Amino acid sequence: MNILLLGSGGREHALAWKIAQSPKLTKLFIAPGNPGTAQVGTNLDIAADNFPALKEAAIAHQIDLILVGPEDPLVKGVVNFFAEDAEVCHIPVVGPDKVGAQLEGSKDFSKQFMFRHHIPTAGYLSVTADNIDEGVSFLKSLKAPYVLKADGLAAGKGVLILTDLDETISELKAMLDGKFGAASKTVVIEEFLDGIECSVFVITDGKNYQILPEAKDYKRIGEGDKGLNTGGMGAVSPVPFATPEFMQKVEDRIIRPTVEGLYSEGINYTGFIFFGLIKVNGEPLTIEYNARMGDPETEVVMLRLKSDLVDLLEGVAQKNLNERTVEFDQRSAVTVMLVSGGYPEDYEKGKEISGLNDTQNSIVFHAGTASKNGAIVTNGGRVIAVSSYGNTKEEALAQSFKNAEIINYQGKYFRSDIGFDL
Ligand code: AMP
Ligand code: GLY
Repeated sequence: MNILLLGSGGREHALAWKIAQSPKLTKLFIAPGNPGTAQVGTNLDIAADNFPALKEAAIAHQIDLILVGPEDPLVKGVVNFFAEDAEVCHIPVVGPDKVGAQLEGSKDFSKQFMFRHHIPTAGYLSVTADNIDEGVSFLKSLKAPYVLKADGLAAGKGVLILTDLDETISELKAMLDGKFGAASKTVVIEEFLDGIECSVFVITDGKNYQILPEAKDYKRIGEGDKGLNTGGMGAVSPVPFATPEFMQKVEDRIIRPTVEGLYSEGINYTGFIFFGLIKVNGEPLTIEYNARMGDPETEVVMLRLKSDLVDLLEGVAQKNLNERTVEFDQRSAVTVMLVSGGYPEDYEKGKEISGLNDTQNSIVFHAGTASKNGAIVTNGGRVIAVSSYGNTKEEALAQSFKNAEIINYQGKYFRSDIGFDL
């Protein structure tokens, strides 16, 4: 089978690494990919949202299946584009269509969906310019801290958690006034949930699903989980507090009602569902959905997925995922993200990276890198994800930290407390 993977980050390198191990794979292409994906497949110089160029490439390379890494092409309708084109509609695109991707693309849509299907989540009110007064009354009825969310995609910056009511009210007004552009024309006000978070992933063919290994990511830039939010500074799997009893509740109350809800509403959803969960007094609640795998969670989930990913993707395409099996590696997997100095604020690119070939016993996934005159240079905020196995998470972490010291570039920073709270 020839597979085309869309995207260019650490998540995509991890997916490509896993796909490349499959006996079912003939050729793997990645658009646009990065120097890491080039080690396990063929990069195509096409942006992941350039649908006409992707179509041409899919025909030229006789692609049998397309897997979408990031949310952007999904929200822009890559699944619809292929399904509606007579020349390429036979190629399954694993991912939700434009409506399904709204589970991630619109917080208001996802909250309404959760409420329709009685999926546990925080209470909320959606506010637009037309009902600001109602929004202010709702805020006054809540206890601090207050949670404001831009409805649309806001590059991970659209969620504010504030302690002062007056400040929250003025932020609400600023958001409705376009603080995050069109993304905050609607704002979701939520009850604050106090608990511990983890990420749970499923792969679905629209009717059947299989649960993948869970993970915990570390979102803040600073140690002790302080400072600005990032795309994710590291991840650990398994998550000790996601006990079998907890995961059963997650499946019964959240996963199954979500997949059944999508199916019963006639929403065309295949691919991954990422459940951002929080455990409050032992009970799971849903914080958010994403219509894709997590990054850097994928950099540990792919290590712990023992089964053939291509077999699962084929199960999605053939709508018989129930006949496929998912086996987990019982070892721990961790990833430590090496980032550019200054990230998540301004940072420089183009710093030469050394030591990439000197690491031992880690899998080094490229996130934001580029090739320049025969060297690998930094090309993003998150640069390299150093992933390792261990019989315990401590063993895996020791390995990743050791290799995180071996890889070097000007301004390198990583959190040395990943997994320490678990
Ligand atoms: P979201 O984009 O919805 O996942 O929100 C980003 C982050 O904000 C989450 O990972 C949580 O850490 C935090 N958060 C979001 N909603 C809530 C909530 N209702 N209560 C507490 N924390 C929240
Ligand atoms: N690591 C969180 C995300 O991928 O959204």
